[in-house]
Amino acid sequence: MITLHDLQFIPFIPEKRITKAIDVLSDQLNKDMADKKPLFIGVLNGAFMFVSEVLKRFNHECEVSFVKLASYEGVNTSSRVRELIGLQEDISNRSVVILEDIIDTGITITELERTLSSRGCKEVKVATLFFKPEACIKEITIDYIGIEIPNRFIVGYGLDYNGLGRNLNEVYQLKEKNMTNLVLFGPPGAGKGTQAEVLKQKYDLVHISTGDVFRYNIKNATELGTLAKSYIDKGQLVPDEVTINMLSAEVDKTPEANGFIFDGFPRTEAQADALSELLSSKGVEVSAMIALEVDDEVLVQRLLERGETSGRADDADEAIIRNRIKVYYDETAILKNYYQKEDKYFGVDGVGAIDEITTRLSAVIDNL
Ligand code: IMP
Ligand code: MG
Repeated sequence: MITLHDLQFIPFIPEKRITKAIDVLSDQLNKDMADKKPLFIGVLNGAFMFVSEVLKRFNHECEVSFVKLASYEGVNTSSRVRELIGLQEDISNRSVVILEDIIDTGITITELERTLSSRGCKEVKVATLFFKPEACIKEITIDYIGIEIPNRFIVGYGLDYNGLGRNLNEVYQLKEKNMTNLVLFGPPGAGKGTQAEVLKQKYDLVHISTGDVFRYNIKNATELGTLAKSYIDKGQLVPDEVTINMLSAEVDKTPEANGFIFDGFPRTEAQADALSELLSSKGVEVSAMIALEVDDEVLVQRLLERGETSGRADDADEAIIRNRIKVYYDETAILKNYYQKEDKYFGVDGVGAIDEITTRLSAVIDNL
C-alpha cells in the first residue's frame, strides 16, 4: 500500500501486464501505420510514459509531438476542458495518432479529436493505455485500447493524483475502505477453527471457510455448486475459477463487512493471485496471512487424543496424521513465500491457552 497526499492506494495492475498490453497495441500500430509516416500526439502530462513505450516499439518512420488539454482535478473528472496548447506542427493531410494515458468520461478525447480534425488532417486515430467503459459518457471510437478497467481511480505509469504517483512503474488503485482481510493457516490440530471463531467475534469479521462454502453450494444446488459437483463426481479437482466465483459470491453477501477470514483458501500461488484479484476488484486487499505454528509432536498428540473422543477415523491413525501435517507444510511453504514477499506473512505461536493465543493473534492484527 502507498500513500499519496491524503489518500491510500493499493496495487492493481502489475507492470508485466501493462507492458504486455503495450506490446499488443504497438504490434497493431506497426501493422496499420507502416507506410503512413504517422504523427503521434501524446497528451500531457499523463501520457508521457505510454508515449515513450509505444515509440520504442514503433519500427517505421514517424514523428512525435505533445499537447496539453487537461480536464482533471483531484479524483473526480470535471466537465471543464481547457484549451489545446503545444501543437506547432502542420497536421494537414497527416495521419495522426493521439496517445492518451486514460479515457474516463471521454470528454477530453472528444474535444481533442474535434480540434485536430478541424485542422485538416487525413485521419485521426485514438490509442489509449487505459479505458474505463463504465465512466464514458461520450459516443467515441477508440481505435486502440491497452487495458479496460472498472470505474476506479488509478495512479502510476504516468497517471497522478494531484501531481503525485506518475513515476510508479505499476498501477495502483484508490483503496476503498479499511478492511481486515485475513488468510488464516494452521496445521491440522493447531486450533485454527477455535481461533477463527474468536477473531470473528472480536473484530466483527466474516469467516469464510472454503469447505463450508462448497458444502453449502452443493447442498443448495446453486449454479456454482452444481458445477463444482460435476467435477467432484468425476474425481477431478474443481477449477480455481469456480471456487473463486463461489468465494466472490460469498464476499458480496456482506459488502458492509469489516473484513473476512479466509480459511482453506488459497492453497496455491494461482489461487493467491485469484484472491488478490477478487479483493482488488472490490478496492481492497489481503491484509495478512497468519499461520498458527505448533510443533509436529504436539499436533500428533493433540489429534490422537481428539481421535479417542471424536471417533474421526483420520484422527486415529498416526501415519495418516503425520501425512496430513506434511501435506499442510508442503502447501503452506509456497504461500508463506508468496505473502512474505508482500510483507504480509505472520507466524504466531499456537501453543498455550486459547486466550493466550488469541492475544498473540490480536497483537498482529492490531498492528496491521
Ligand atoms: P476524461 O476527459 O474524463 O476522459 O479524462 C481524461 C483525463 O482525466 C486523463 O487524461 C487523465 O489525465 C485524467 N484521468 C481520468 N481518470 C483518471 C484516473 O483514474 N487517474 C488519474 N487521472 C485520470
Ligand atoms: Mg491526461
